[in-house]
Amino acid sequence: MFICDNISVNEKGNLAFAGKDVTELAAKYGTPLYVMDENKIRENCRIYKNAFKKYFGENALPLFASKAASFKRLYEIMTEEKIGIDVVSSGEIFTAIKAGYNLKNAYFHSNNKTDEDISFAISNGIGYFVVDNIEELIAIDKEAENQKTVQNVLLRITPGIDPHTFEAISTGKVDSKFGSAIETGQALEITTQALKTKNIKLCGFHCHIGSQIFETEPFFKAGLVMLDFIAEVKEKLGFEALQLNLGGGYGVRYTENDPVFDIDASIGELSRFMKEKALALGLNMPKILMEPGRSIVANAGMTLYTAGTVKIIPGFKSYVSIDGGMPDNPRYALYKSSYTVLNASKMNEKADFNCSVVGRCCESGDIIQENVPLVKPERGDIIAVLTTGAYNYSMASNYNRIGKPPVVMLGDSGDYLAVKGESLEDIVRNDI
Ligand code: LLP
Repeated sequence: MFICDNISVNEKGNLAFAGKDVTELAAKYGTPLYVMDENKIRENCRIYKNAFKKYFGENALPLFASKAASFKRLYEIMTEEKIGIDVVSSGEIFTAIKAGYNLKNAYFHSNNKTDEDISFAISNGIGYFVVDNIEELIAIDKEAENQKTVQNVLLRITPGIDPHTFEAISTGKVDSKFGSAIETGQALEITTQALKTKNIKLCGFHCHIGSQIFETEPFFKAGLVMLDFIAEVKEKLGFEALQLNLGGGYGVRYTENDPVFDIDASIGELSRFMKEKALALGLNMPKILMEPGRSIVANAGMTLYTAGTVKIIPGFKSYVSIDGGMPDNPRYALYKSSYTVLNASKMNEKADFNCSVVGRCCESGDIIQENVPLVKPERGDIIAVLTTGAYNYSMASNYNRIGKPPVVMLGDSGDYLAVKGESLEDIVRNDI
């Protein structure tokens, strides 16, 4: 009935998440509240882990793209689930360290790592840098020399795939701000440079074609383009890549209109295409990595709000104002992202009140969702926004000096706080 199997309605007619009445969670912790289903995160990790093992062998490793959600408890779960991590800043690296995560399986991304980031990552023993361009390669080499070490790297390659208009393959993403493009010759150039750079150990290549993608073809195409590139490098430079990281990007269901993406089947098919291709090219299959973010945490998350003003503008539209908004979820404001919104306090009544669910910031663009059918709320009802586990907490801001909400996890032993909410004192903590 719902977009994910961890959502249900209980005997009181309230919404339940991972079996827990969300109105009780709202009463216990207050709202706005991010809620995360620990078992769903683990289940999603295992879907990748098992598919990788089944189709690509023991050596293959999924990484969690922590830009989707980053706080200490998540890295502890990744340690327990034996999942690697993709990190994009010193802040994410520091959070992982604080959670006791072993950085051996951490891959450091970003198109512009600062000298401070590079130094911090190397001194903390980051497993791999995913190097964006030659300038960065030189900066990493210099710092590795300073720290008397040899740094493992992958090179970020732009395969020229446009995931949304698949026909326009070869030039679609060449102009991306990320990576070095095959088409322009820069990919081969950076590989040549990496192989002769003293304090750099080249381990392989990386690509990432985009996010929230439901078609499988762009992923297959990217895999094949990357194998072609690996073969070209082998032939021209005598180097055979040991690792190939195919990035993240699998889509998740925000509403009933989104399809169900079968991760296991897609990885299975990808592996068949790639094995055939590797054989045809006379290559050994490299260690395969992928770095999903959204599909690990999105459906493990839900945000709870309390309804405030219900405003009806006769002949025009109706608004339901909630006690959060774009500071805790900027995705509608940024991308017009779809969400399913429910009146969690009145699940058995008819959802016939068409409205816009809006936040409390002083800005008209502070919208969570427009034109949603809701059971007409009364002030104090709990409003749930589903599938908020990815890119919500991690993208939250303090706009209007609103504190970030707490994150509560639902696990086998009950509900527990993973991240405290920000207090008014927290809001001024850095003001001098
Ligand atoms: N690897 C790289 C290099 C990436 O840039 C990304 C996402 C991922 C992996 C993870 O992709 P995922 O599996 O989560 O699709 N803020 C946007 C999403 C930005 C994605 C950026 N890169 C949103 O809220 O939709």
